[in-house]
Amino acid sequence: MSFIIVLMASRNAALVTGAAKRIGAEIALHLAGRGYDIALHYGISEKQALETAEKVRGHGVSCELFQTDFKDLEATEKLLSQVKKTFPNLNLLVNNAAVFQSGRISETCAKKMVETFQINFISPYLLMREFHETVKKGSIINMLDERITRYDHTHSAYTLSKKALRELTYMASREFAPKTRVNAIAPGYVLPPTSENPDMKKVLKQIPMGGTGEVKDVLSAFDYLIDSDYVTGQIMYVDGGRHV
Ligand SMILES: NC(=O)c1ccc[n+]([C@@H]2O[C@H](COP(=O)([O-])OP(=O)(O)OC[C@H]3O[C@@H](n4cnc5c(N)ncnc54)[C@H](OP(=O)(O)O)[C@@H]3O)[C@@H](O)[C@H]2O)c1
Repeated sequence: MSFIIVLMASRNAALVTGAAKRIGAEIALHLAGRGYDIALHYGISEKQALETAEKVRGHGVSCELFQTDFKDLEATEKLLSQVKKTFPNLNLLVNNAAVFQSGRISETCAKKMVETFQINFISPYLLMREFHETVKKGSIINMLDERITRYDHTHSAYTLSKKALRELTYMASREFAPKTRVNAIAPGYVLPPTSENPDMKKVLKQIPMGGTGEVKDVLSAFDYLIDSDYVTGQIMYVDGGRHV
């Protein structure tokens, strides 16, 4: 028994939010492949979370599920300490969960703006704060969006929340160094959104590399940020040059 505890304590562990499916699930599987124990957070996608957890365990690491609705800030504030009870070896936080909805400023009611900020900005903020306070040495990676360089008024709440998360990434990288590194990845078009059908001809015209990205491109950026002990306050754009 004590051998297992020593073994677990010596391993890396990551909390990946929104990891039941899509990019979050791929990140969790990739980290498992690198030997990380996985705290797999999900909101409502329980079935996919169970399936992803099985695949994660196939890499020979531990994986536990943590359900939290990020609209519930009290529950969100408790998430990190719950994860730490199971994984005292937690040393990586990936803020991946997000809500992506269209809507211009004129179409966005207060409730939608507040909920988007709760999920996309305040939850990562609470998790980052708690993570930094309790970790010995760690790393945080926030998922942004290349839209942070533009004013996509057709997705006003989403774009504003990701811009806020960019500023938090920079600010925390100063405050949390040298104990905790804080970096971010800003993907472009990687997986089609589930909530809408973009005009692909128009999208492709805006991408200098002339095509959409793949999850593997995001994972390469992950590897760089995880392995680079001297890198903090960095935003890696994985967008085929769309932000330029
Ligand atoms: N897809 C792309 O090409 C792209 C492009 C640019 C940036 N990004 C960023 O990359 C990240 C991953 O992208 P994605 O497209 O894979 O994301 P996604 O499918 O839109 O969302 C990821 C997860 O967020 C969770 N989530 C949403 N609302 C929640 C809530 N109230 N409480 C808890 N969890 C909640 C969902 O978990 P449940 O289903 O379990 O509720 C969902 O599976 C996001 O941060 C996104 O903004 C993606």
